[in-house]
Amino acid sequence: MSNLIDRLPPGPGGSKLLNTLQVLRNPQKAFSKWFERYGDPFLVHALNGPIVVTGNPKLVKQVFSHSAAEFDAFGKRALVPTLGAGSMLAIDGEQHRQERKLMMPMFHGQRMKSYGSIVRQATLAKMAERQSATSFQMLDVTTAVSLQVIIEAILGSQDEDTTLRLMRLARETIRRSLPILFFSPRSQISFFGLSPWDRFLEARKQLRNAFDEELSRRKQNPKPSEDVFSLLMNAKYEDGSGMSSNRMFDELGTFLFAGHETSAIAMAWATYFLLSAPNKLEKLKKELASCDSSDPAELANLPYLKAVVSETLRLNPIVTEVLRVLNKPMEFAGYQLPAGVALAPATVAVHYNEEIYPDAKAFIPERFLERNFASNEYFPFGGGARRCAGSAFALYEMTIALGTIFSKYELELLETRPVHPVRRNVTMGPSSGVRVAIRA
Ligand code: HEM
Repeated sequence: MSNLIDRLPPGPGGSKLLNTLQVLRNPQKAFSKWFERYGDPFLVHALNGPIVVTGNPKLVKQVFSHSAAEFDAFGKRALVPTLGAGSMLAIDGEQHRQERKLMMPMFHGQRMKSYGSIVRQATLAKMAERQSATSFQMLDVTTAVSLQVIIEAILGSQDEDTTLRLMRLARETIRRSLPILFFSPRSQISFFGLSPWDRFLEARKQLRNAFDEELSRRKQNPKPSEDVFSLLMNAKYEDGSGMSSNRMFDELGTFLFAGHETSAIAMAWATYFLLSAPNKLEKLKKELASCDSSDPAELANLPYLKAVVSETLRLNPIVTEVLRVLNKPMEFAGYQLPAGVALAPATVAVHYNEEIYPDAKAFIPERFLERNFASNEYFPFGGGARRCAGSAFALYEMTIALGTIFSKYELELLETRPVHPVRRNVTMGPSSGVRVAIRA
């Protein structure tokens, strides 16, 4: 006999807008307050619908191990107009499974390893541009590196002018993609071409035109190439069909959007943490000195460097909660949740659980050398069937870029006040750009 209570978990009432704004502003604070007040899980009504939030690893496990068929993508009403109906972030079920099968190999395994030298070259070039600056924002460097890396991985080196043009248009589209546009379809309002939504659509249109031109150029003049663009042009789904140009644009845009700001922010945080903890930095430098730091493969395998990256993503997860929508009712924590409710494992809550991470607010990379954390204890990349499709690529990129920077440069942190996480987009990032100077 089921002892289910046929009602939803308790949670804050209040307006959806106010609830959403609290989560946008400071998810960690909002979640802690609501966990304390209503228990775990709690239900919050947000602009994107009702969300059941949990920071309990047992419940997180239930979410990540549940059949993919029971969940739909979250926030589709806002995502489809921004990223397109063909975006991996917006599709569900069998279509989503097939899409991942087609796209994942391009950012994993041997393919991913071929991007190592792109990361190293981009990092050296962007740091060299700052060589004579008195000071600069580390986030500017890491953003330039990650944008260059993802665009080069996608486009290859077929045509430098096209790459530069697409990079400029992509940067502009990203700059105009304000967080609220992704959180609320109601913010997607046109006003004589002047509203933020109009400005975003205009940038996206220009990016699309440049993409179409590149696609026809490559169709007319096919060259054997290993970049993601060319691979997708020839890729086949299980039924033998190819990818439409609409779908290709949506997917490449999604990888660009999901894959550049995230890594950039994480690298800026890692720099901040290392420069704030001289003993950890010294340990890393010792490790870097013991390897051939010009070899991306060696850098990507350094245990302490990898631990620095893991701890950075634990301490300040870029995405603070992972979201899915139930497409059928589910028994969850003693509640009977109806279809349409979203489930949200709160990364910020679990990553700060003192039972799993003693001294959780401190930057201690060593914890990742001492033990392995389960996928319901540590999930900066989400989990289950929708886990980040670029996680291996991101980790590879971060270790190589950070290894290159810290093996070659002596940096000094110039921030006079503590830097804390603030909302940037769907992501959280540092409240300042992490100002540094090169000292040697
Ligand atoms: C530090 C860097 C990154 C972080 C922290 C991050 C985090 C995440 C998270 C939390 C999700 C949602 C997972 C879920 O719902 O379970 C996600 C999804 C995704 N990420 Fe990343 N990501 C990063 C880098 C990247 C990169 C470099 C790429 C592309 C090369 C990428 C592509 C994607 C895609 C396509 C999805 C959608 C997956 C799906 O719905 O099946 N991400 N990411």
